[in-house]
Amino acid sequence: MAQRTMKCLGICITLSVIALSTATILDYHPLSEERIAQINEKAKTWKAGKNFEIEDWETVKRMANGVRPDALLRRRHYSAPHDISEEIPDTFDAREQWPNCISIPTVWDQSDCGSCWAIATAAAMSDRVCIQSNQTKQTFVSAEDLNSCCVVCSDGGDGCGGGYPEEAWAYWQTHGIVTGGLYQGNQGCKDYTLAPCEHHVNYTTRPQCADLNYVTPNCSRTCSEESGLNYTESKTYGQTPIFLAEELQIQLEILKNGPVQTSFFVMDDFPNYQSGVYEATSINWIGNHAMKILGWGVENGTKYWLIANTWNTDWGLDGYIKYIRGTDHLYIESSVVAALPKA
Ligand SMILES: *[C@@H]1O[C@H](CO)[C@@H](O)[C@H](O)[C@H]1NC(C)=O
Ligand SMILES: *[C@@H]1O[C@H](CO)[C@@H](O)[C@H](O)[C@H]1NC(C)=O
Ligand SMILES: *[C@@H]1O[C@H](CO)[C@@H](O)[C@H](O)[C@H]1NC(C)=O
Ligand SMILES: *[C@@H]1O[C@H](CO)[C@@H](O)[C@H](O)[C@H]1NC(C)=O
Ligand SMILES: *[C@@H]1O[C@H](CO)[C@@H](O)[C@H](O)[C@H]1NC(C)=O
Repeated sequence: MAQRTMKCLGICITLSVIALSTATILDYHPLSEERIAQINEKAKTWKAGKNFEIEDWETVKRMANGVRPDALLRRRHYSAPHDISEEIPDTFDAREQWPNCISIPTVWDQSDCGSCWAIATAAAMSDRVCIQSNQTKQTFVSAEDLNSCCVVCSDGGDGCGGGYPEEAWAYWQTHGIVTGGLYQGNQGCKDYTLAPCEHHVNYTTRPQCADLNYVTPNCSRTCSEESGLNYTESKTYGQTPIFLAEELQIQLEILKNGPVQTSFFVMDDFPNYQSGVYEATSINWIGNHAMKILGWGVENGTKYWLIANTWNTDWGLDGYIKYIRGTDHLYIESSVVAALPKA
């Protein structure tokens, strides 16, 4: 009896200590200086810093939640197409492997819209079209077309309200996606129509995201007048998408066929990432986000994925993040999808 009471006491004290420390963390706004200092005390492999003002919080949550809540937990048929006895380099960067493909190092800005699912996917598709052509085809696959025209991708076509990346890859195979690149990029049939905006501190050149109030653009099945292109004729197509969940399979897929798209659970410390290898220090979930993996490496003994975010170049490491590899941290490895372009 006494022993039991003792045990309970121990557990209860532990629980209240946890509750207390959680309460302390919750006391500070996720974007505040105090919280950033807390993260920097806790994080062993990365540094947090001020990327956003506290007033940006609603915009940040919208940007960090472009993948529908149930998307990561859907049942999938994972495959393991590669022979894992093949040699895999310790570091790899698609930008260096295929330097003539201009889409690979392109960092996107999703604007005030939860379209990361469309952009990360269209970016990986564009990279793969170029890679498959032996770096000759500089064709951008249109994130705009995907965001506004794929009805099944987002439960009714509200792409800015978040989507299902796997449906986007399937749509590439079944319906095709026209060409088109960055906002006013003149990169094909339909460029992205939402302007880059000011998500970050200390910038003066872009409009404030919060002022834009963008809604999902209407689907237009015509090319922009400037492009002079025919919608049907400018479609690109993909092959059957594959789902991967193992580190080595993902590495070999990137090595052979180019960048892949993935999704993960976003914790509220993620927006403050500035450098190093990210591993969450918080369990406060704020959404699901999609990104493009283009390589990997090891930093100070910690294995990471090299990943492109879609929050412009003034976030993280010039728009990129190093993200802990090999532990399926927050589903980053079990949410990988990719397809080959149709030749
Ligand atoms: C790819 O392009 C390079 C030149 O950039 C050429 O030397 C090589 O033969 C090409 N490979 C294939 C398979 O066409
Ligand atoms: C933003 O500007 C302030 C004042 O000019 C400066 O102290 C601060 O370091 C800048 N922050 C960043 C992230 O550049
Ligand atoms: C989409 O079309 C409807 C009906 O024509 C219009 O009311 C709405 O403003 C349009 N939305 C956008 C974002 O252009
Ligand atoms: C676009 O191309 C398709 C297929 O070649 C053709 O049927 C259609 O008439 C063209 N549309 C326009 C507006 O020229
Ligand atoms: C790696 O470790 C060294 C020595 O502890 C440290 O000085 C350096 O800042 C670390 N590098 C990164 C990128 O964290």
